[in-house]
Amino acid sequence: MASLLVAHGRPGFYFRVLEEGEVEAGDEVVRISRGPENLSIAEINALLYKPGHSTARLEQALRITALSAGWRSSFLALLDRAHTGDTTSGNPGLVSAVEPQPGWQGFRPLQVTDKRHESDDVTSLILESSDGRPLVRGRPGQFIVLRLRATPAAPPDLRSYSLSDVPSGDRYRISVKRNRGGVVGSHIHDNVQIGDIIEASAPRGSFVLEPGGGPIVLLSGGIGVTPMLAMLHALAAESSPREVWWIHGARNGSEHPFAGEVGACLGALPRAHRHICFSSPTSADRPGVDFDASGHASVDSLKGIGTPRAAAFYLCGPPAFMTELRTGLAAWGVDAKRIRSESFGGGPAVTPGIVATPYRQPHPPAGATGTGPMVSFARSGLNVRWKSTYQSVLELAEACDVPVRWSCRTGVCHSCQTPVISGGVDYRPDPIEPPADGTILLCCSQPEGDVVIDL
Ligand code: FES
Repeated sequence: MASLLVAHGRPGFYFRVLEEGEVEAGDEVVRISRGPENLSIAEINALLYKPGHSTARLEQALRITALSAGWRSSFLALLDRAHTGDTTSGNPGLVSAVEPQPGWQGFRPLQVTDKRHESDDVTSLILESSDGRPLVRGRPGQFIVLRLRATPAAPPDLRSYSLSDVPSGDRYRISVKRNRGGVVGSHIHDNVQIGDIIEASAPRGSFVLEPGGGPIVLLSGGIGVTPMLAMLHALAAESSPREVWWIHGARNGSEHPFAGEVGACLGALPRAHRHICFSSPTSADRPGVDFDASGHASVDSLKGIGTPRAAAFYLCGPPAFMTELRTGLAAWGVDAKRIRSESFGGGPAVTPGIVATPYRQPHPPAGATGTGPMVSFARSGLNVRWKSTYQSVLELAEACDVPVRWSCRTGVCHSCQTPVISGGVDYRPDPIEPPADGTILLCCSQPEGDVVIDL
């Protein structure tokens, strides 16, 4: 219904209330003036939601001072794309961060050319092209998705791992932590050998080191160090003059991989600061050498060591670490635009109008197993067969408690736009405007074959 209304130019709202009062049946509605630029609400609505986005109309709309901040920023985003000659698809007025297209669609075989023990529980794999075709140089902070079979006779497992080395078009390094009960991590530690072939996606993701000259804080906990390490390498490779703060939390020295590598990178930076926190240092750990403080990395510790509040903050670590630091940074007054974070579970769900429920680990849906195409939720590590009783991929994700974002649920608002790693979907109903290339709208799509979704 929402889709039909928008498609037919009836957005469902017609007035902006400037002064509240009582309105009742029988009251006369009188137009007392025309708004500037003579654009109706329906035209404004179509300018954002329907294809076309005429530059002249956008400029006209932006001259209307009554336009709210939200609509204004949407139109500015559309205008910006038009003025910069950007040819990216999708609707930047609805979804602000459309990640760049990955270097290849789906998966390609890569060869394990080295395997390194980094610490008690972290192992790195070096992956190179297995067929002579060059790789695609990722951006510092991006990740790749591996498709490998940890359990014979079971469907392939999908896992996302950040690239942990300086961006390269020749080789990728990933660094994998063995977690208790973790099937894929254990398989990589115990079974994967040099010479093995592993299927991998191209580097992807929008958590990347942004250019700039201001101070930068790389803040990580545990294995969340990996994307930060790629960023640190990139900064060190160009001897960046930026002020760089390396803040890392670990249990103790036996669970602190890459210490030497980080030290070498920091040594290549003229304005580097280090603050390593060990929550349970052992007698072998030397204060001031192996670590700088006992306890957890916190916003109070950032303030204590003089980290500038105006810096760009990059965060990656366990969920509790991320939540505490995000909250703390916001309370400190750090602008949300300067806080970027990566999490390898699904992102936070956005389900307007629905009472929040406690987080549940994603799981196969209840009831009989489907017989349709395989739908894989890569971040959730879940493979599920499609059943035609689901209206959309969104409904299937919800049945699995995979965190999702939505608003209109009929292909209008693009809130549910999600990157797809391989495969494709059909739409019923068709979205008002197609999503960006390499993404799908969950709320109105059905798999056309096996599909792997970055969710
Ligand atoms: S397009 Fe609005 S929720 Fe999918």
